[in-house]
Amino acid sequence: MQTNQWGTIRFTDKVALITGGASGIGRATANRLAAEGAHVIIADNNTEMAHKAVSEIQETGGKALLIEVDLADDESVITAARAVAEKFSALHILVNNAAILRSGKIEDGAWLPNWEPETAIGLRGWVLITQHLLPLLKQEGAAIVNLSSEGGFLGRPGQWIYDAIKAGLVSLTKTMAYEFIEYGIRVNAIAPGWIVTEMHFGKGKAPDPAAQKKALEELTISSCIMKRLAKPEEVAAAIAFLLSDDASYITGQTLHVDGGRWGMSVG
Ligand SMILES: NC(=O)c1ccc[n+]([C@@H]2O[C@H](COP(=O)([O-])OP(=O)(O)OC[C@H]3O[C@@H](n4cnc5c(N)ncnc54)[C@H](O)[C@@H]3O)[C@@H](O)[C@H]2O)c1
Repeated sequence: MQTNQWGTIRFTDKVALITGGASGIGRATANRLAAEGAHVIIADNNTEMAHKAVSEIQETGGKALLIEVDLADDESVITAARAVAEKFSALHILVNNAAILRSGKIEDGAWLPNWEPETAIGLRGWVLITQHLLPLLKQEGAAIVNLSSEGGFLGRPGQWIYDAIKAGLVSLTKTMAYEFIEYGIRVNAIAPGWIVTEMHFGKGKAPDPAAQKKALEELTISSCIMKRLAKPEEVAAAIAFLLSDDASYITGQTLHVDGGRWGMSVG
């Protein structure tokens, strides 16, 4: 067996689609799967960042391409799935990952404008793209990973929509696991804790993204045993495990990648 910096190459000639693969956890996952031999499709609406992610993989000898998709737009999702089918006869890996995080307390109604975009992207869009990719996923069997969150298990003030979606994804993962097992498709979820990604330091999140990233990387938190945030690569490693044959008897499960989270204190 070939090896790379992580020890194994588990996805040779597998075709893998990652929604939100242009940034954060999705990008780290795209890099990891490509380094382990997969042909990676980055499906994202941020074409500028997606082009960079694709180039980065290609420059290191990996196989990657961009398919533009806006998960909030049904037509866009259907067109993207069609584009995948025109290029590949089978899809072996799907990572449902793209999401946005908005805040708003229930009492003052600040959540209301966020309901439609947040659920359209992070819940409806995920099911719709899975539905339209299913014919390709059925061809040779597949593995799916859905990105939940520790927030889905906590229910935090000011984040009810995001956290309710992430709780819903735990149930959705089970439903998919039951419905798709007859096609040889395993479906699992990952619930990350607090991860240093553009979701927390990207455009519009902080006046100085680089300084914010560094501050998060160095932050000590009291809400998990490991007392630190994670790098996206640490989540990507767990995603890759669940997608690989190393997890051949695991389906319908949610793996917590959270440094041993035990509470809701800041961080
Ligand atoms: N970062 C964390 O602390 C954390 C914790 C728990 C769970 N998660 C989950 O992990 C996943 C990845 O999060 P991240 O932190 O890497 O986020 P991120 O903001 O770094 O990346 C999200 C990606 O989704 C894409 N995207 C956004 N809207 C889209 C749309 N309408 N159509 C297509 N693509 C779209 C963005 O362009 C971006 O590439 C999300 O589901 C998130 O909820 C993140």
